[in-house]
Amino acid sequence: MDLHRRERLALCPGSFDPITLGHEEIIRRALGFVDRVIVAVARHATQAKRGLFDVDERVAMIREVFADEPRVEAQAFDGLLVDFARRVGARLVVRGLRAVSDYEYEVQMALMNRALDPELETIFLPSAAEFSFLSSSLVREIAALGGDVTPFVSEPVRRRLRARFRRRDPDRPTDPTPTPGEPWRP
Ligand code: PNS
Repeated sequence: MDLHRRERLALCPGSFDPITLGHEEIIRRALGFVDRVIVAVARHATQAKRGLFDVDERVAMIREVFADEPRVEAQAFDGLLVDFARRVGARLVVRGLRAVSDYEYEVQMALMNRALDPELETIFLPSAAEFSFLSSSLVREIAALGGDVTPFVSEPVRRRLRARFRRRDPDRPTDPTPTPGEPWRP
């Protein structure tokens, strides 16, 4: 074993509002070729939009989801991704690509990040086919409307979504999971 080999560290940055099984799959695949992954949750100081969960809750959920994986940690960051990458000593960014529609935005970000810091490389992993339609925004919408998000998020996330929407609407039944064959009605 080469004791002097530099640790291979990747950043998986995003909004993660909340983390989905699609994100998780990309992060676990990244562990196949790096030693450690930092899941970096952007604070988006320039955006007025608050999101559903605050950034600390998003980080807490990611930590719960990866509680069994010591090679994954979650951190929030302010400001530019390139500055955060430099601070933690990461030179690789891993992003998932779901569909052609993601491509333009993703390549634009990758090229901009490289222009800001030529030492920071971005690689894309194609998402698993079963998650190629999945997004945090659709998960939020399904949860808000009382749908079952079990196929799309891990248990800690499902619990928090349930608690969140129960709190917002005190008249909603405590368990929004529909029984088979019977649609749940708010
Ligand atoms: O999950 P998202 O919302 O697609 O992730 C976008 C994210 C957080 C990776 C991107 O907005 C980002 O890196 N934000 C940090 C600020 C920054 O560096 N902006 C310039 C990106 S080229």
